[in-house]
Amino acid sequence: QAQENIITVKVNEPQDTISKHIYGHFAEHLGRGIYDGFYVGKDSKIPNTNGIRTDVVEALRELQIPVLRWPGGCFAEQYQWRDGIGPVDERPLVVNTFWGGVTEDNSFGTHEFLELCEMLDTEPYIAVNIASGTVKDASQWIEYVTSDKDSEVTRLRKQNGREEPWDVKFWGIGNENWGCGGSMDANYYTNVFKRYSTYCNAEYKIASGGEWDDLDWTRTFMTKIKEVPNFIDIAHGMSYHYYTIANDWAVKGSATNFVEEEWFRSMDQTMKMEDNLKDHIAIMDEHDPDNKIALIADEWGTWYDVEEGTNPGFLYQQNTLRDALVAALGLNIFNNNARRIKMANIAQTVNVLQAMILTKKEQMVKTPTFYLFKMYKEHQDAVQLPSDFQGKTYKTEQGEIPSVSVSASKNGKGEIHISIANVHPRADLKTTLDLQGLDKLNNVSASIISADKMNSFNDFGKEEQVKIASFDAFKKKKAKLEIEIPAKSVIQFKVQ
Ligand code: AHR
Repeated sequence: QAQENIITVKVNEPQDTISKHIYGHFAEHLGRGIYDGFYVGKDSKIPNTNGIRTDVVEALRELQIPVLRWPGGCFAEQYQWRDGIGPVDERPLVVNTFWGGVTEDNSFGTHEFLELCEMLDTEPYIAVNIASGTVKDASQWIEYVTSDKDSEVTRLRKQNGREEPWDVKFWGIGNENWGCGGSMDANYYTNVFKRYSTYCNAEYKIASGGEWDDLDWTRTFMTKIKEVPNFIDIAHGMSYHYYTIANDWAVKGSATNFVEEEWFRSMDQTMKMEDNLKDHIAIMDEHDPDNKIALIADEWGTWYDVEEGTNPGFLYQQNTLRDALVAALGLNIFNNNARRIKMANIAQTVNVLQAMILTKKEQMVKTPTFYLFKMYKEHQDAVQLPSDFQGKTYKTEQGEIPSVSVSASKNGKGEIHISIANVHPRADLKTTLDLQGLDKLNNVSASIISADKMNSFNDFGKEEQVKIASFDAFKKKKAKLEIEIPAKSVIQFKVQ
């Protein structure tokens, strides 16, 4: 007997609001992410405003990016913010020791980043240096950016052309301080965090988490932070990093030239993020039952070997239909755990890791992940609805995973969006979508992201292979839909 596939959405059981910040991004001084990606300099022939690429900004505005994290990553812990202010030709040259050993001329600094955020209409999230800087550096950077008081640093800001303070809410207190941020242990880091955070006069402060599998770090941080009276004044979030690696760290595999085993592992490993997140969340729930400290997944996405012939320290990789599927799985997980997860930042926007945009001189490509984020932006600040899939699995010699991942939400206009990913690369899936709580369905429309091949991608100067198309392989049956979901696709329904 054929197994029945069913997706259920409970329309009348609204849960938490899916913070729009789950649709956030990350941009580090790494490879061609900032320089050549966002920033080409004022004298470039590539159209720009104050050095910031016009085409990249226009494209990213389509995604309604809610928040952008900068300047790292590992680079944040070597960044001296004073190097990146003042007349550009007087800024010091430094070496980016983390990424490629290249010379960083500091032409893109605080003012340029905040101007970029204004152009994108996005909220900035700045990570301060706590490993090779001082408490004074960190607290003065925040004062420089956000204070409306008269002081030496705010006078400096005005002298550098910015009269009014910027409104920057999110500040990271370090980055990966278990590793590139100073190889600290959880106990030591938590003390460092308390010290910095006490003097960092910022609205929303995000602590570094441990490695993804280091539950002890989370436990130590949560236990010790609670010893601080009014801990919520100094800690608002704890960060979480999880990358999808199709093979292993030594040989991560190609972004485009891969076999089905690697496809499977990418899906499997991304799905496993949910159990891992739940383990961290359980510890946070135990120590912070009132849900005051958020989990901030401020680095996630795919990480492959770099494209042939490119600098290994630049982390430049192509982006295929597989990446769109991984993004769908990740975002479904964040949507479905929106109670504790209040922000996520995919790594890293332009030309680095799982990027939205790739550039080559004056050319630009919108990746499959770009289109996935464009499709999913409907969930920003909508209320999560419980959803579930029962049915066929995707089984290979490497294991067995559900063939479908789903998340759903209802926005302020009453529109319901249901996002469904069929991760099976070869099997179309007939399924019922049961919108429990509705008697009938009036207006239903749908869109799809799919392509001929698992590794279809969008290339410079060629017709796009992966983009959003409209989808109509479904029939209404009262409050149910009978759908034929193509293999390796993401579908989004809009029900009004
Ligand atoms: O995103 C690339 C690097 O991955 C970041 O700099 C670091 O935080 C992480 O290890």
